[in-house]
Amino acid sequence: MNVTDEIKNRLDIVDVISDYVQLRKSGHSYSGFCPFHSNTRTPAFVVFPSTQTWRCFGACAEGGDVFSFLMKKQGWEFKETLAHLAERAGVKLEERGPADREQQTVEDRLTDLLTAAADYFHQLLLYAPQAEFVRQYVAGRGLNEGTVATFKLGYALDSWDACRSHFNMQGYGDDELLDAGLLTVHETKGSRYDRFRHRLMVPIYDVDGRIAGFGARTLDPDGLPKYLNSPQTAVFDKSRLLFGLDKAKRHIREARQVVIVEGYMDVIQAWQAGFRNVVAQMGTALTEEQLRLAKRYSKRFVLALDADAAGAKATLRSLEVARETLDREGDVRFDARGLVRHEGRLQADIRIVTLPEGNDPDKVIRTDPTLWPKLVAQAQPVVAYVIDVVTRSLDLDDPKAKTAAAQEVLPLIGDVVDPIEREHYRQMLARALRIDERVLHKVSLPAGRGRSQPRPAALPAPEKPGTAGLVVAMSGKMAATDLRQANYLRQCLSYPQLMAQVDKKLTLNRQPAIAETDFTRPDDRALWRYLRQQAGQRTVAAGEDLCDSLQDEVLCQRLQALLTLPQTPESELDRLPDSLVLSVLDWRLEQVRSLMDKVMQLWREAQVQANPDMVDMYGQQYRELTQMFLRMSKAQGAMSGMNRQAAQESSGTTTGQV
Ligand code: UTP
Ligand code: MN
Repeated sequence: MNVTDEIKNRLDIVDVISDYVQLRKSGHSYSGFCPFHSNTRTPAFVVFPSTQTWRCFGACAEGGDVFSFLMKKQGWEFKETLAHLAERAGVKLEERGPADREQQTVEDRLTDLLTAAADYFHQLLLYAPQAEFVRQYVAGRGLNEGTVATFKLGYALDSWDACRSHFNMQGYGDDELLDAGLLTVHETKGSRYDRFRHRLMVPIYDVDGRIAGFGARTLDPDGLPKYLNSPQTAVFDKSRLLFGLDKAKRHIREARQVVIVEGYMDVIQAWQAGFRNVVAQMGTALTEEQLRLAKRYSKRFVLALDADAAGAKATLRSLEVARETLDREGDVRFDARGLVRHEGRLQADIRIVTLPEGNDPDKVIRTDPTLWPKLVAQAQPVVAYVIDVVTRSLDLDDPKAKTAAAQEVLPLIGDVVDPIEREHYRQMLARALRIDERVLHKVSLPAGRGRSQPRPAALPAPEKPGTAGLVVAMSGKMAATDLRQANYLRQCLSYPQLMAQVDKKLTLNRQPAIAETDFTRPDDRALWRYLRQQAGQRTVAAGEDLCDSLQDEVLCQRLQALLTLPQTPESELDRLPDSLVLSVLDWRLEQVRSLMDKVMQLWREAQVQANPDMVDMYGQQYRELTQMFLRMSKAQGAMSGMNRQAAQESSGTTTGQV
């Protein structure tokens, strides 16, 4: 089979063409409006999955395969089309030069490393004892376990070399870690150390769901920068990525629009609330590449801007500033003229919506999820939006202010490609300024198009949303090891049959039954031994009676403490064995995790002492622990996945797009 056939075999033409044409299933084929001639009434364009071909039955009367479609649609040469489709199909092209192939393997290895890093950070967040605070932080931001798993959120330890050591032991060299952006170089000393330390790790995926890098949020309220992103690498290029697009693309197509927000957290929160056609900019102004990427799924864009960003940046004066600082990271996220030009070039429909002062989507959705779709529905076209902002608080009795406002908006209107739209906005501006539209044609635009114009409208001072008032919640996985063990014992005190039930489930999942060593506290170990003896007998003493029969003051105290924990009601007894099994696996994972930390410490010491035998031994132990950890977390993941699914099905979770 030649390479074009192989590509055609692997790809579905419907899938590929759907990136460019809105298709609807009709019988055995799919139809839509022809992208090659103006066709708006009856869909003349048909795609046939059975033959993997397309044909226009209208004016152009043309047809072909997936290659001819792309060549025609994108104006590409065959070679370009081949490269694009091969990449999409995951087919390696032989005729590429050796340099290309090398590049590919370098990128593959980099992606593997980044994926392993995301897993590593994720496991730390879930199980590292040091991450307890972070688990509370995440819970306090209202994110649930499913969301943490879906986005594979993670935690980078508060250490200069934990990540480095971990991957050194897995066979990755410092150079590779540096290329992946996991290490950084000390400016003056030249030494290398972990780039991400004590941060919440947000993996950033490319459109195909491969991990390209990380956005790492500080956990210190005054920490700077707030988000430390991966540096530019072979696979991380901020101008070509949109956060969340890999997960959102399907929903964007369904909702027929994409909502673009400013922050990673906004996307994550929206996703959790069921608004799934949402992606985030990468902390920079939107680039045309990003828009092109999203346009494969819908050409209607809604930009949801924080009030401060929009308020401060909507005027052309600040747009000039924006352009001057375009390359600077951090604060340039809205560029109206840029957008209007993109709109023309991309034939897209870009709208703007502002959020209530001091709110970002994350906050809005957490406070009142029903408000979100309403806000999105109120989005205005870019020019209308700017006219609105510029004239909103304008003093209409001040002729100079009116002139300044006109000078600000007119260049933007001039950028609108369509003459009818242009005229429409001129009229809109004239009405807003209460002047005759013909006068607008005579307004002279100063050189530099408003560069040094005074701001006509006094916009309210931006107010940064505060981070105070986080509710710290503890739940399920978010609780500490000791508490889990205590809860297990607590429930077994009330329902002794649980001990056998939990053991059975563990064994079924190829995990060892509960043993004394499972418990951290010596008194818990002793209590567990005692309970196990008792479980065999029919009459089980409870509470005070049990205390008497224990005949041990220390154990008795612990017992009383345990009895203050809530007893699961009998009505929920069905689900208790499953949830206890998950909790057992949780605490075991945490135990292995801290063991890994200890072994890593010993490995480091062995290195400092230049003791190669010990270095080998601890390295080996660490790898074994890693393996064990992965096996356990897989089992845990599979089981909790099943539980989650069951819970969702019974609660009938729904999702919605806007
Ligand atoms: P914000 O400062 O609005 O943060 O930055 P946020 O998303 O609301 O974050 P939380 O809710 O406080 O956690 C918005 C986006 O700008 C980029 C990131 O992409 C962030 O999501 N950004 C911000 C950076 O890249 N670096 C920074 O230091 C700050
Ligand atoms: Mn926020």
